[in-house]
Amino acid sequence: MKFHILTLFPEMIEQGLGTSILGRAAQKGLISINAVNIRDYTTEKHGKVDDYPYGGGAGMLMQAQPVYDACQAVRGDKKTRVLYMTPQGETFTQAKAQELAGEEELIFLCGHYEGIDERVLEEIVTDHLSIGDYVLTGGELPAMVMIDAIARLVPGVLHNDDSSVTESFADGLLEYPQYSRPEEWHGKKVPAILLSGHHANIEKWRLEQAMLRTQERRPDLWERWQKTHDHSGTLK
Ligand code: ADE
Repeated sequence: MKFHILTLFPEMIEQGLGTSILGRAAQKGLISINAVNIRDYTTEKHGKVDDYPYGGGAGMLMQAQPVYDACQAVRGDKKTRVLYMTPQGETFTQAKAQELAGEEELIFLCGHYEGIDERVLEEIVTDHLSIGDYVLTGGELPAMVMIDAIARLVPGVLHNDDSSVTESFADGLLEYPQYSRPEEWHGKKVPAILLSGHHANIEKWRLEQAMLRTQERRPDLWERWQKTHDHSGTLK
């Protein structure tokens, strides 16, 4: 899957996504990360990409021309979706990550300063997306958050294909608690059932824990989950 990121700070994207699991996935050719510097596309002298907003007000705006040309250079005549990172967008969720993981190619548009000239947004943006109700200094961190969440759903990116299915949110519940060696640490013992070797009981215990945890920590998710499952956790 191909990720293109239109940004004024390509090194931020390259450093953020070039290591660990996504770095390895890129080396294997499962994903590609193409950080495009919008500044390379300006037709103005001295590489200028921003200007004052008409009507006055604080800060500078990114101008339409370099953003449009950078996008066209990447997209050509393909119908690739262009995702604009903005706190005004729809909140990004696991369901959205799953939907976007079905695309072959995505373009992420990262704003900076006070934003981008509305006219180019009207022409190129297909999806307005936010990572939450707070304001950041630019769209690079949101783009990296979304790319991480989407890329890990691409087959082969995670070693154990199971782990993208069983963890938090995949089925609407938070993940159950996990334990590794040693069996006792700071006086706390690993729950005995996990040492029993009885797989059916372990699965049952894990489901109960996931239900309890969701109830306590995310009553909003619990409410939704109960509509489709009975009290033992079976689909209605
Ligand atoms: N740009 C600035 N804040 C943002 C947010 N919360 N989500 C997405 N893009 C942003």
